[in-house]
Amino acid sequence: MTTDATLNLRRDGALAWLEITNPDRMNALTAAMWQQFPDCIAEVDNDPSIRVIIVRGVGQRAFSAGADISEFKTARTGNSAKDYDALNHNAFLALTNTTKPTIAMIHGFCLGGGLGLAACCDLRLGDQNSQYAIPAAKLGIGYNPRWVTPLLALTSPANVKEILFTGRRINAEEALQMGLINDLLDAEKLQSETETLATTIAANAPLSVAASKRVINELVHHPETPDLYKLDEAIQRCFKSEDYKEGQQAFLEKRKPNFQGR
Ligand code: COA
Repeated sequence: MTTDATLNLRRDGALAWLEITNPDRMNALTAAMWQQFPDCIAEVDNDPSIRVIIVRGVGQRAFSAGADISEFKTARTGNSAKDYDALNHNAFLALTNTTKPTIAMIHGFCLGGGLGLAACCDLRLGDQNSQYAIPAAKLGIGYNPRWVTPLLALTSPANVKEILFTGRRINAEEALQMGLINDLLDAEKLQSETETLATTIAANAPLSVAASKRVINELVHHPETPDLYKLDEAIQRCFKSEDYKEGQQAFLEKRKPNFQGR
């Protein structure tokens, strides 16, 4: 039986799970799935009960083996290649720009657009079987310059050149050493450890986490001309928040804070 290729949004308390679902093709991403990202993320962004977004592939064989190559002949050829890349890019932008912290939970293959997506998440946890590559040069694909910035934020230009020039597969230990992933875990523990990390972040003050995300993204994307005025505003918003008072009060009363995101 063939499963429909789709991006599935599931809520579980403060966590939203975005599940890349195309198990017959190693969770390859179709054009329709790229198109689903901005809507799913907007839905989560508008839901104050959600504090963290986790992106994963269904099953344990693959986070995603990248763009669905079987569509390329029709959807990513000649002039349509630009439109296809725009769909793909809007998905990356939505993930980069969501105010909520994002975690990529990576079982198995994380290739091409799959690695591109993971690199647009704030944090990445991989299992010991995870493998990473961008095989664009093996397929004759021109790798979009906009997608290189997130990679350069994780690892050195020399490493990114090696990844793009060779298209070779990088194992989990090497990925950890290169900085492509934050941590490496046993496959059986990956989900529970991801949930622990997400729950820890979800318990913290949302405005404070969102401000840090905004600051880091701005400094990465506009290193020469960061909009410090906007960043200062985000920081001031934290100091004026009820959560700032709650954080101090909880500390003095020796209890856990109960943050509301305002
Ligand atoms: N697009 C479309 N279908 C894909 C796919 C992709 N990116 N990646 C895997 N599949 C499909 C395979 O064609 C195969 O389909 P089939 O059963 O109908 O033949 C199925 O998924 C299982 O993959 P298979 O190659 O048999 O498994 P494997 O364990 O031998 O190898 C990969 C797995 C991921 C290493 C290999 O499929 C691969 O290299 N995929 C392409 C990765 C890639 O180049 N991504 C970048 C795209 S821009």
